[in-house]
Amino acid sequence: MDKIVVEGGYPLKGEVRISGAKNAALPILVSSLLTDGPCTYSNVPVLKDIESTKELLINHGARIETDQHTVTIDAGGLNNSEAPYDLVRKMRASILVLGPLVARLKKARVSLPGGCSIGARPINLHLKGLAALGAKVELIHGYVEASAAKLRGAEIFFDTVTVTGTENLMMAAVLAEGITLLRNAAREPEVTALADVLNKMGAKIEGIGTSVLKITGVPALKPVSVSIIPDRIETGTFMVSAALSGGDIKILDCEPTHLESVIHKLRLTGSEVKIDGNTMTVKGGDKITSIDIKTMPYPGFPTDMQAQFMVLLSVAKGFSVITETIFENRFIHVSELKRLGADIKVSGNTAMITGVPKLMGAPVMATDLRASASLILAGLAASGTTEVSRVYHLDRGYEAIEKKFASLGAKIKRVKA
Ligand code: EPZ
Repeated sequence: MDKIVVEGGYPLKGEVRISGAKNAALPILVSSLLTDGPCTYSNVPVLKDIESTKELLINHGARIETDQHTVTIDAGGLNNSEAPYDLVRKMRASILVLGPLVARLKKARVSLPGGCSIGARPINLHLKGLAALGAKVELIHGYVEASAAKLRGAEIFFDTVTVTGTENLMMAAVLAEGITLLRNAAREPEVTALADVLNKMGAKIEGIGTSVLKITGVPALKPVSVSIIPDRIETGTFMVSAALSGGDIKILDCEPTHLESVIHKLRLTGSEVKIDGNTMTVKGGDKITSIDIKTMPYPGFPTDMQAQFMVLLSVAKGFSVITETIFENRFIHVSELKRLGADIKVSGNTAMITGVPKLMGAPVMATDLRASASLILAGLAASGTTEVSRVYHLDRGYEAIEKKFASLGAKIKRVKA
């Protein structure tokens, strides 16, 4: 398995371009199943999870052509309603095919996603919503088996805000008969991006960006050509890297309006953030101030930025508290950061961080996608060398991250196993 080796202590300077958002591209590529013509998607990030999504769609009978960051998918030949375990276990977001398959093929047999290091991540709300739309839903031998001659609009309330749950049911409802109301729906920019694409395909979704989505079913959707929105989590990760290294970087092709809570919090720690359209300039302050953070559904502070901010606060002046309200086990990175000299105590879903003057480089192990990014950040700030192993986690969600950091002056390299 590859490692990434970082030599800390170099302030980052220069420009970096943000890739398309992984968590927008996944549902949007899957939405191609809802129509029988070629859909073209540009600004698609080159990532392991995108490859897994393409493999899954081909398994269902879609034809796919890729030219670097442009992907064309034609689901006219959709002929297989089964998503097997060996594909689903590679990427739990595969569950997103459930809604479109029942909508288009009237049935689906999708493997239950396996466990995940950051939490149980059940899909009960996906299944409850699909049943509310009139599908027969059963769990048989580790698979979800769902079928419906015709899905009918219904009123669905999400007990918990769920991003892929909202996306799955939106894709099931757009071809259902009648009106569907999704209440307490997720408002993440990636959910909004999917709704915008579905409307461009001829769907009738109202209330986009709010927590109540009204979907009026239509008989069919037409193919579409769209561009994927910028990745707000990749953007936030680079913003923190400037703050951590006392650097001064210009971030291009980003969407600052998707990062209001992150910009607000970073400014409170002492960084200077300047916004100019789709460009942001982030300058690290001469000292890092401790703050408190509580992760919340959008537009609150994103859980996917929690690990990155924990690194920043571990070298801030003073005492910080991070409360993780979305996932029950998203502090796995704490033990690795403590190996680098961070002073963090965890009690339940709260992490108490006492800032230390400096982190010290050491070998560490990545455990999940965003935690592995935080270990790279820690390596940039630490004195000495940090070796991050199991970087396959990183490759799932960050396009060429070591090349992007190197272009900003980081002393970083990938060591092939
Ligand atoms: C999406 O996961 C993202 N993944 C995650 O990003 C992100 O961390 C998460 O949303 C929260 O923002 C994709 O978009 C592909 P949820 P998702 O359903 O949809 C509970 C990354 O690093 N829940 O919004 O799986 C669940 O257990 C990944 O890119 C139920 O109880 O998250 C969690 O506690 C990590 N029942 C909470 O809701 C359900 O049926 C939020 O989960 C569904 C969810």
